[in-house]
Amino acid sequence: MSAPHPFDVGDRLPTLDGARLRLRWLEERDVDALCRIFSDAQVTRYWSSPPLKDRAAAEELLAEIGDYFAARTLYQWGVARIEDDEVIGTCTLASLSVEHRRAEIGCALARDSWRQGIMTEAMPLLLDFAFEKLQLHRLDGEADPRNAASLALLERLGFSREGYQRQRFRMYDEWQDAVIFGLLREEWRSR
Ligand SMILES: CC(C)(COP(=O)(O)OP(=O)(O)OC[C@H]1O[C@@H](n2cnc3c(N)ncnc32)[C@H](O)[C@@H]1OP(=O)(O)O)[C@@H](O)C(=O)NCCC(=O)NCCS
Repeated sequence: MSAPHPFDVGDRLPTLDGARLRLRWLEERDVDALCRIFSDAQVTRYWSSPPLKDRAAAEELLAEIGDYFAARTLYQWGVARIEDDEVIGTCTLASLSVEHRRAEIGCALARDSWRQGIMTEAMPLLLDFAFEKLQLHRLDGEADPRNAASLALLERLGFSREGYQRQRFRMYDEWQDAVIFGLLREEWRSR
């Protein structure tokens, strides 16, 4: 029998509970929520893909999330309110690397939930999981310099600014720069 994959977490992502929210496995019943979140052009303004066009595109997104999970390259949780289990955002570990014990983080929230401290509460659940359960050594973060919310969130979480890449992405008919951030496990543990 072969050894278990280092990032093996069973057949679905575990639920990670916070005070107001939980990170949980995304299901078919969340397609409308995914559609609502990711069809908003303000949410995807600095996202790696354009807004979803319709519900079918949200179905495809959910299928992709499942495929990447099965390949253990991207773990994407729904951020659900504890009170009604409604998904209002997602948190992601992308480009998971066993060899380098690293991943990239990402998160997005429905616009009507912005600026209520939701991601300040949700992301530490993801970081604990990444550093303690998966035993990652490093997390990468990236933000467009105009994305004030993302810059503030990464700094709030303890990420260090490590660099700046000019014209890193081509989105919305423009070249977008990227501020590069990093967080090491020992830094997270000693916060
Ligand atoms: C980035 C995002 C997830 C932040 O989530 P949020 O729950 O609204 O953030 P919080 O309320 O926890 O705030 C975190 C920090 O960001 C600051 N902040 C939030 N929105 C801000 C804004 N529009 N402008 C400036 N600062 C902002 C908060 O003041 C807080 O900083 P502080 O700790 O110094 O007080 C949300 O704005 C979003 O979904 N944006 C669109 C998707 C995106 O760009 N994702 C990031 C790329 S991966």
